[in-house]
Amino acid sequence: MFFGAVQLGIMAACIVLFVPMGMAGWHLSRNKVLFFSGALFITLAVCIHLIPYFPSFFPQAPAVVFQQDPVNSCISLLNDITFRSDSGGFFWNWDNSSGSYGCDFQKLGRVDVSDLLNGSWVVVAGDSQARLFMVSLLDLILGSEEMESIHEDLFKRHSDYHHVVEKIGLKLDFIWSPYVTNLTNVVTEFRRNHTYPDVLVMGAGLWHMLHFTNYSDYGDSLQLFRDSLFQLPPVSHRFDMESDSARVLHLFWLGLPKLINKLLNTDEKRVKMTPEMCNAYNQELYKSKLLRPDGGSMLLLDVETLTSKCGIDCSLDGMHYSDVVYEASVQIFLNALLIESHQKL
Ligand SMILES: *[C@@H]1O[C@H](CO)[C@@H](O)[C@H](O)[C@H]1NC(C)=O
Ligand SMILES: *[C@@H]1O[C@H](CO)[C@@H](O)[C@H](O)[C@H]1NC(C)=O
Ligand SMILES: *[C@@H]1O[C@H](CO)[C@@H](O)[C@H](O)[C@H]1NC(C)=O
Ligand SMILES: *[C@@H]1O[C@H](CO)[C@@H](O)[C@H](O)[C@H]1NC(C)=O
Ligand SMILES: *[C@@H]1O[C@H](CO)[C@@H](O)[C@H](O)[C@H]1NC(C)=O
Repeated sequence: MFFGAVQLGIMAACIVLFVPMGMAGWHLSRNKVLFFSGALFITLAVCIHLIPYFPSFFPQAPAVVFQQDPVNSCISLLNDITFRSDSGGFFWNWDNSSGSYGCDFQKLGRVDVSDLLNGSWVVVAGDSQARLFMVSLLDLILGSEEMESIHEDLFKRHSDYHHVVEKIGLKLDFIWSPYVTNLTNVVTEFRRNHTYPDVLVMGAGLWHMLHFTNYSDYGDSLQLFRDSLFQLPPVSHRFDMESDSARVLHLFWLGLPKLINKLLNTDEKRVKMTPEMCNAYNQELYKSKLLRPDGGSMLLLDVETLTSKCGIDCSLDGMHYSDVVYEASVQIFLNALLIESHQKL
C-alpha cells in the first residue's frame, strides 16, 4: 500500500513538472507554464481523491490504496454464526451473508485438531460455561468411548480437571474459577510457577452477578485481572506451536451468555439476574479494555451473541444452553488459532 502510494505520488510530480516544461520548450510564456502547472496539479489532486469513490473506473487503484488486513477482518467475522433447528435438533454454521465467505472458516475434525494442538498445553478456567466449553473441546478430541469413561470426573461440580492426550502430547486443564478474582489468582500462579500454557480460555461473571449483584465491583475485578495479564510473557498475535523459542500465549475471553429471566430456576436468580444487570455486567467488560479491539490482549468468544441467536428453545435453564452453542464456540476458538498460526490444513 505504501509502495503504491509513493509511486503514484512520484508519477504525479513528474507530470506536473515535465508536461508544462515540455510545452514551454515550444512557445509558452512563463506565466502560461505556471498556469498549466497549477491546473495540472489541481486536476491530479482532485482525481486522486476521487479514485476511491469511483472504483469501477479505476479497477486497480482502490486495491492498492485500500487493502484490508485479511487476518483481522476474518477474525472479526468469526462470531457471526447462524443457528437453525429442525426435528433433528439444532444446527449451526457461519453466516455466509456477512462477508465471511472469503475467510474459509471450517469446522475442524479430530485429525485437524490433533495437528493444530499437537504438543501444546491448553488451560480453560472459569465457571460452568467454561466447563461446558471444555467438555465440547474434549468431545472433539476424544472418541466417544474415552469420553464416556471420563464423563463422571469431568462433571464433578466445582472441581478442577486434568487430562493428557498422550498420542499428541496435548495437556488439557480445566481450573474451576467462578469469580474473576479466581482467574487473577490463576494468572498469578502461572507467574509464580514460571510455567505458561500455550492457550488460555477464561471467563466468569454469573456467580458475581448472583452473589454480589454489583457491576462496578465486577468492573474493578476485571481491571485487576487485566493488570495481572501483564505478568504473562508477551502476548503476540503470532501463534507458532512448532518451535519452543517462538512460543507465545494465546488468550480468549469466554463471554457471558444471554440470560432468559423466566427460565431461571430459582427466585433469587430471577430477581438478581435481570436483563438490565446482565447488560451492566457486559458494559463493564468493554470498559475494562480487556478485549483486543479495545487494546487488550483477549479475543472474545461472543457467547452472548451466540446464545441470543440460538434463542430461548436452545436454553436449558435460562443460563446454560444446548451443546450446539459450545460446539460453535469451540470451532470459533479453533479457527482463530488456525488463522493466527497461518496454518492450512
Ligand atoms: C450460504 O448458506 C446458505 C444456507 O446455509 C446456503 O444455502 C448457501 O448455499 C450458502 N452460500 C454460499 C455462497 O456458501
Ligand atoms: C505431533 O508433533 C510431533 C513432533 O512435531 C510429530 O512427530 C507428530 O507426528 C505429530 N503428531 C500429530 C498427530 O500431528
Ligand atoms: C474464588 O474466589 C472466592 C472469593 O474471592 C473464594 O472465596 C474462593 O475460595 C475461590 N475459589 C477458588 C476455587 O479458588
Ligand atoms: C503451580 O505449581 C503447583 C505445584 O507444582 C501446582 O500444583 C499448580 O497447579 C500450579 N499452578 C498452575 C496455575 O499451573
Ligand atoms: C459496589 O461495589 C463498589 C466497589 O467495590 C462499592 O464501592 C459499592 O459500595 C458497592 N455497592 C453496593 C450497593 O454494594
